[in-house]
Amino acid sequence: MRVDIISIFPEYFAPLDVSLMGKARERGILDIHLHQLRDWTHDVHKTVDDTPYGGGPGMVMKPEVWGEAVDAVIEDGRAASGGDALPRLIVPTPSGRPFTQEVALEYAEEPWLLFAPARYEGIDSRVVAEYGERLRTDEVSIGDYVLAGGEAAVLVMVEAVGRLLPGVLGNARSVADDSFAPGDMANLLEGPVYTKPPVWRGHEVPEVLLSGHHGRIARWRRDEALRRTLDRRPELVARLDRDGLDKHDRRVIEEFEERLEERRSAAASRPGFRAAPEDVAD
Ligand SMILES: C[S@@+](CC[C@H](N)C(=O)[O-])C[C@H]1O[C@@H](n2cnc3c(N)ncnc32)[C@H](O)[C@@H]1O
Repeated sequence: MRVDIISIFPEYFAPLDVSLMGKARERGILDIHLHQLRDWTHDVHKTVDDTPYGGGPGMVMKPEVWGEAVDAVIEDGRAASGGDALPRLIVPTPSGRPFTQEVALEYAEEPWLLFAPARYEGIDSRVVAEYGERLRTDEVSIGDYVLAGGEAAVLVMVEAVGRLLPGVLGNARSVADDSFAPGDMANLLEGPVYTKPPVWRGHEVPEVLLSGHHGRIARWRRDEALRRTLDRRPELVARLDRDGLDKHDRRVIEEFEERLEERRSAAASRPGFRAAPEDVAD
């Protein structure tokens, strides 16, 4: 996969030389090209931003410099591949489409990604409007918080996508067992994991994991994934494909919900308890 990143801080991407991503680059699985946005400015100060129309605090990144940079990077990439391919353009922004494992898998199918991380208040909106007509262009958010710039968001996305590329992980099966993986793990968090020794500071590894019984171990892992998801991310359980649940899954969910109900009633019967507003009948 070819990845181009245009930024005013190309040095921010040094971590992509390390560990799995570094090895993927060495092996040519991940072909990353970093570009300094300021190389496409024409003034002595190499200006990339200006004051916002309509006033307000902060600066906005200028459309001309981004336009020249994106055009040049696309031209370069096409010349290198000798074809007429176009990249998928990804613009990080808190107001974008949420980046999920599903999106990572979708991007892992692409031969060429071009990232445009911004600084300040973001890039003049006409840049996305312009390239949205010429390329597949996504505005993508990595979460409901605001970073100082899009570089950290690009690092997150490149690593999530890069580890899915064939040949990057030693054991390709681990991707299928991951939290959120399509198939059995869709909308589920992975449960707890353990290694040797069997007892550490009095904490024991669950007996079933030492049993060598593959069927029981698989069942236990699924139960723990369900319980952990029910406990930490109940909104994901609501998205589980009900037809894909077997009898045992349903029992785990029912038992968890019964225990939750018992805990709620016990808390409600304690002196001084005040019901949460959503529990108070109209
Ligand atoms: C300081 S932020 C601008 C935030 C903008 N004023 C807003 O409220 O949406 C600067 C840049 O950081 C990046 N960024 C910040 N938070 C992000 C997030 N949650 N996901 C993806 N990119 C983000 C984007 O590239 C953004 O343009």
